[in-house]
Amino acid sequence: MAVERVLSGMRPTGSLHLGHYHGVLKNWVRLQHEHECLFFVADWHALTTHYDTPEIIEESVWDMVVDWLAAGVDPANATIFIQSRVPEHAELHTLLSMITPLGWLERVPTYKDQMEKLAQKDLSTYGFLGYPLLQSADILIYKATQVPVGEDQIPHIEFTREIARRFNHIYGRDAGFQEKAEAAIKKLGTKRGALYEELRNRYQTSGDEEALESARAMIEEQQGLSIGDKERLLGYLEGGGKIILLEPEYKLTPASKMPGLDGQKMSKSYNNTISLREDVDSVAKKIKTMPTDPARIRRSDPGDPAKCPVWQLHEVYSDEKTQEWVTSGCKSAGIGCIECKTPVIESVLAELKPIQERAARYAEDPTLVKNVVAEGCERARKLARECMREVREAMGLSYS
Ligand code: TRP
Ligand code: SF4
Repeated sequence: MAVERVLSGMRPTGSLHLGHYHGVLKNWVRLQHEHECLFFVADWHALTTHYDTPEIIEESVWDMVVDWLAAGVDPANATIFIQSRVPEHAELHTLLSMITPLGWLERVPTYKDQMEKLAQKDLSTYGFLGYPLLQSADILIYKATQVPVGEDQIPHIEFTREIARRFNHIYGRDAGFQEKAEAAIKKLGTKRGALYEELRNRYQTSGDEEALESARAMIEEQQGLSIGDKERLLGYLEGGGKIILLEPEYKLTPASKMPGLDGQKMSKSYNNTISLREDVDSVAKKIKTMPTDPARIRRSDPGDPAKCPVWQLHEVYSDEKTQEWVTSGCKSAGIGCIECKTPVIESVLAELKPIQERAARYAEDPTLVKNVVAEGCERARKLARECMREVREAMGLSYS
């Protein structure tokens, strides 16, 4: 298998909170050490639903990038960029729109869901309907192999795969594809050529996935083949044409276990968040005033951690020993709630300390962030341009 390329995007929602950190950002920080990674701010996506409040976008974008960097996303390990600064996304979106059946867009489950959820807004727009296709362009333009997303986004990745398949099917056959593929087989040599034919045959007649995998591996290993021939041979294996756009896989981001201050999921709309740049006093105050098991009216009333949102924080932050101390102390009324909250406050502050130190450095020097993004856009654009060259050529737009 070729090397993985990971790509993910986030809508600019302004400053991020611990829910984002435990859900998405820690995952990105880990991935950047394992694979090539691209992370971008999906500013056009924000406009699909918030077209009438452009003033909040710009500020949100910078706040969010500072938070990514503060959380440990490292520009030396990941390419960080802004979608609208790579206008090739829009070009690919337009070109893909030519082959996208309306019905496919209308059937994307988030389309109807979001329309209903945001009923107060007029979302009967062209941009909103085409939103999943814009997302497809975001992904396909980098030939990303892995897309880390939450569960709600899985249909969009599946949609992206279908679009890639359709595109390859329509445009992947250059004139004389079969002859060129056969000539490429000859270049493999007699023995390997025969093996290729045999594996291809096994895959095409009985859908033998193992045969497909071995044939792919064999082609990847070939040294003397041109990239064009390699792609032709890979495409020919599956019967179709050349693979121009790569079908990505989704990588489900495990749901964050981070509860909000009221025990519900942490979310801005529930007003139960601790933001990554929340100051020390405010963090302490928010946790100190968190609700606890309502049965503990007096200090001497025993309680049950299962009924207390503070316990959920202990589950995220405390070691086994502390957790035992909480359970027995709560059930026997041996400890008070303020006492119980102390280790949680300490853990949250300890987690936020390095994040806030990094954030301060970036907030103090805005040019630092701007440079990171400018470099990221440059790098992303190079990749995007390469893909567009191939796409234009396949669609008869290269005019060479
Ligand atoms: N649609 C995603 C969301 O709302 C954001 C997004 C846009 C995205 N383009 C993407 C995510 C490409 C992954 C890959 O969360
Ligand atoms: Fe919650 Fe801890 Fe109070 Fe028990 S002692 S109710 S777990 S805060």
